[in-house]
Amino acid sequence: MRHLFVMDPLSRIDVRGDSTYVTMREATDRGHGVWMATPDQLYAQSGRARVWATPVTVTAAPPHFHLREPLDLSTAEFDVVWMRKDPPFDLGYIFTTYLLDMAGTLVVNHPAGLKLFNEKIWCQVQFSHLQPPTLLTNRLDQVRGFAEEHRRIVLKPWDGNGGRGVVVTEAGDKNLGALVELLTREGRDHLIAQRYLPAAPEGDKRILLFDGRPVAAILRVPGATDHRANMHVGARALATELSEADKRICDEIGPALREHGQCFVGIDVIDGWLTEINVTSPTGLQQANRLYNRRLEAELMDCVTAKREEKSQ
Ligand SMILES: Nc1ncnc2c1ncn2[C@@H]1O[C@H](COP(=O)(O)OP(=O)(O)O)[C@@H](O)[C@H]1O
Ligand SMILES: [Mg+2]
Repeated sequence: MRHLFVMDPLSRIDVRGDSTYVTMREATDRGHGVWMATPDQLYAQSGRARVWATPVTVTAAPPHFHLREPLDLSTAEFDVVWMRKDPPFDLGYIFTTYLLDMAGTLVVNHPAGLKLFNEKIWCQVQFSHLQPPTLLTNRLDQVRGFAEEHRRIVLKPWDGNGGRGVVVTEAGDKNLGALVELLTREGRDHLIAQRYLPAAPEGDKRILLFDGRPVAAILRVPGATDHRANMHVGARALATELSEADKRICDEIGPALREHGQCFVGIDVIDGWLTEINVTSPTGLQQANRLYNRRLEAELMDCVTAKREEKSQ
């Protein structure tokens, strides 16, 4: 098989925790061909996407990536294109999904779904009953009203990731006006206000789903100095199991993920409440591998290989 990974520059990859790195290594170990490109190396001509792709061999030992000369190739020459560019989900990201609409091959995750599903807002569109009460607004008076109703709330930028800009606040907080100004850029953007879940200090569960089926979960517990359960602000990853509520969430969203070609997804669940459906380059493979002595990249590769075979039939 031939794989193209569309991703951030290799210099940004931390091999100790990165899910793309272990997936590329798995492909190399299977004797598959592996190429990489950054989004700006994609282009399209007469309705067909092409790419300046760099062949790469990926190893466990440093320097980890062994590059050869880039080639100008049709994306249709690859069996799979992996869209693994990290957020932000900005206009550049969306433009890349337009180019990938012309890939002429299997794209993981499917670019139409990437455009359609905003990670924090998709839950509201189709599954709002699985989420804590949530308000999308750019108006301070509405945020104040929401805080009065729910007492303790969180505010988040609608396009954030990695915990960026997520704050806890409450009714009567004299910082509320300033917080809303900052998060909405004085009303130009919307923010997300959500009822605070009191179980958040006990952890935020990241559940990994391959082709709509849950395969592993880790519980991220916030560190002592930050309320957020994101790994790069100091959360620890612990072993955990799926509760009945978690399973119901997966059962409900799984078919939609499958239908829209979202093969590799990580959802965030706090105390049985869905907060996010991460479809743009989710992480967690290496953390789960360590906790459960698994090789999830191999399971993911099997899953994507089966998809590829389904597609070519
Ligand atoms: N409704 C909530 N109640 C309590 N804490 C929350 C809530 N939503 C988010 N958090 C906290 O903020 C962190 C980041 O929020 P999240 O919505 O997952 O955004 P991000 O995409 O930035 O990870 C979570 O891991 C959790 O610790
Ligand atoms: Mg999150």
